[in-house]
Amino acid sequence: MAFRSLPQTRQAGSTDSASNDPYAPLQNAPSDRPFVIAQLGQSLDGRIATSTGESQWINCDGALDHVHRLRALVDAVVVGVGTAVADNPLLNVRRVEGRSPARVVIDPWGRLPPDSHCLRDDGVRRLLVRSVDVDVPAGCEAIKINARDRKVSPKEIVASLFERGLRRILIEGGSRTISEFIDADALDRLHVLVAPIIIGSGKAGLSLNPVGKLSEARRPRTHVHMLPGGDVLFDCEMRSPS
Ligand SMILES: NC(=O)c1ccc[n+]([C@@H]2O[C@H](COP(=O)([O-])OP(=O)(O)OC[C@H]3O[C@@H](n4cnc5c(N)ncnc54)[C@H](OP(=O)(O)O)[C@@H]3O)[C@@H](O)[C@H]2O)c1
Repeated sequence: MAFRSLPQTRQAGSTDSASNDPYAPLQNAPSDRPFVIAQLGQSLDGRIATSTGESQWINCDGALDHVHRLRALVDAVVVGVGTAVADNPLLNVRRVEGRSPARVVIDPWGRLPPDSHCLRDDGVRRLLVRSVDVDVPAGCEAIKINARDRKVSPKEIVASLFERGLRRILIEGGSRTISEFIDADALDRLHVLVAPIIIGSGKAGLSLNPVGKLSEARRPRTHVHMLPGGDVLFDCEMRSPS
């Protein structure tokens, strides 16, 4: 896929070739630890859905291709049950060449309908992160992780997936799920795909623990790419020093 890299505007980033290829960090991910990337498609004003919940599609075809390319490069794609219920996604690779990853739904209380598309048996592993003992559909694997204050630790989720042979992990959404991973410092990389549309209300892409001062805000080293179709990809190094 053709990408046009823009000059880095905010941070003095490295000039190595990896900074010009948004897929290189995944392709070169270390083999001895998990590598976690999240993606979020949003409007110029940071919305991922309208006030009535309409979200398909904010981003352009180039951004959708990008998400499928990421899926093809990971071992597992993870969504929260909110997304699995709202969008009923297939979570497979269709728009580019490549293998579909294992599908993981964070569903602590067992509210995902068993006939959800992401649970269908197409030969790909399907895993459910649960905090309660609820039967999982035939052929699916349960990962039991206790919740604290109704939160499941993202780092425990990642460690459990790694134990099961799933090393490169894509957190595909939605808002709460990605926010929990950022607040827990559980991401290596964050891809924010910004579409030139202003929605003005509706669901925000991220909702993080509040900071009082800008100096406390995260300011990751970021590489910027123009996608075919007009969206802009911000590829953020979440483990780089601010
Ligand atoms: N633009 C994009 O790139 C993109 C991508 C994906 C989805 N979306 C949109 O995002 C929206 C859904 O986002 P959302 O924030 O409502 O839902 P979500 O993040 O998909 O799912 C949130 C739910 O998953 C469970 N969950 C996830 N992480 C958890 C954790 N660490 N600990 C405990 N529970 C956890 C909780 O389930 P319980 O509620 O059962 O406790 C939580 O309420 C939809 O409109 C969808 O279209 C947009």
